Amino acid sequence: MSSLATSLLLTCLSFCSADVFRLQADQIMNVTPVIDGHNDLPWQVLKKFNNQLSLRSANLTELQGTHTNIQKLHLGHVGAQFWAAYVPCETQNKDAVKRTLEQIDVVHRMCHLYPEVFDCVTDSTGIRKAFSNRRVASLIGVEGGHSIDSSLAVLRTFYQLGVRYMTLTHSCNTPWADNWLVDTAEEHPVHNGLTKFGERVVKEMNRLGMLVDLAHVSVDTMKDALAISQAPVIFSHSSAYAVCKHRRNVPDDVLLRVNETRSLVMVNFYNDYVSCNPKANLSQVADHMDYIKRLAGPKAVGFGGDYDGVTRVPVGLEDVSKYPDLVAELLRRKWTEEEVRGALAENLLRVFQEVEQVRDQMAKDAIAPDDTPIAFQGLEEACRTRYGYPDSGDHPRLLPAALALALLLLLLL
Ligand SMILES: *[C@@H]1O[C@H](CO)[C@@H](O)[C@H](O)[C@H]1NC(C)=O
Ligand SMILES: *[C@@H]1O[C@H](CO)[C@@H](O)[C@H](O)[C@H]1NC(C)=O
Ligand SMILES: *[C@@H]1O[C@H](CO)[C@@H](O)[C@H](O)[C@H]1NC(C)=O
Ligand SMILES: [Zn+2]
Repeated sequence: MSSLATSLLLTCLSFCSADVFRLQADQIMNVTPVIDGHNDLPWQVLKKFNNQLSLRSANLTELQGTHTNIQKLHLGHVGAQFWAAYVPCETQNKDAVKRTLEQIDVVHRMCHLYPEVFDCVTDSTGIRKAFSNRRVASLIGVEGGHSIDSSLAVLRTFYQLGVRYMTLTHSCNTPWADNWLVDTAEEHPVHNGLTKFGERVVKEMNRLGMLVDLAHVSVDTMKDALAISQAPVIFSHSSAYAVCKHRRNVPDDVLLRVNETRSLVMVNFYNDYVSCNPKANLSQVADHMDYIKRLAGPKAVGFGGDYDGVTRVPVGLEDVSKYPDLVAELLRRKWTEEEVRGALAENLLRVFQEVEQVRDQMAKDAIAPDDTPIAFQGLEEACRTRYGYPDSGDHPRLLPAALALALLLLLLL
């Protein structure tokens, strides 16, 4: 063979094999599309359109200036998406509940406006049905425990509205759980994990059949929740701490607990968590997936892109149309087809089914809804009424008055 022919052959080999992996990714994803753990499109709809999905400019088909639109979802073989009902920590003790309800409503209206595209589902069976009907199964995750305003009644009502995961904290402590910032120099630990009420939140989520999400929480909160939860948990959008030492990522000892509890880490694509640098690329995201697979096992890996929740995404993963390129990279790295299908969908479906089984078992055991409220002292008083809290009524103000009176009497005598 001439040297020209040899070099042509070699060039072809490298290109053709590159295409082979991409073709194989398409084939796999035609049957097993991706279930992504976290997408902030509803937040974009709020910021850009004040939630007015009916505006012509808010048409989701070819929406511009976002990572997500309907065309890209189809190109990316997105088969299910947990849409984030996210409201900033600034709303805590203010209008968090109302604003969370509004973001839940946006997802419901997405399904209503685009019935050919989105199918709002609430269980693992619904996801599989949407797969076969070529719809994007749409689920809701409430991102941050501040959204329930320390009320198990609000948590239960969110479940009734279709919410299927709650991230225990966003980037602020709640009255019952510490967030990841306490693991940095920025904040001090307040609860060192979950309080007793926080443990009851987790238990109530188990009883309802709501996935416990540990993205954004402190390492102590991760460990407490992993210890108390009767069902496996998820990290809806977090990566591996050993690969990039950012406190939003999951440390090794927790990854081992993830393995032991059959839990799941859905890898975040945000550059700062991927490379600890404003710049990152697709291959570095694959490094996180490789690492978690090695330490926690192939059944512990998933995808949690955080699209439309972050400002910087890796080269090669610019928007939601790019998942197949990442799958091709995993195949190139010798992931088996079974491992790839696991990361795409089967791992989340298994966790979800186990969560549903725990719910069913607790119903059989006749575990009642937890109706013990948080102690009033656990709440910030501003803007709050006290109905139902007789003990916390006038006593705090009476006590100083009584002391003053006693002192006065003492002086007079
Ligand atoms: C969005 O635009 C497409 C055309 O690109 C149109 O077919 C569709 O009806 C529009 N959907 C809504 C809900 O306005
Ligand atoms: C991705 O980034 C890393 C670190 O900068 C670099 O070593 C690697 O070559 C890049 N990979 C690709 C495919 O660009
Ligand atoms: C994870 O747990 C399973 C058992 O559930 C075990 O077989 C496996 O070896 C563990 N570790 C890894 C890295 O897969
Ligand atoms: Zn987040």
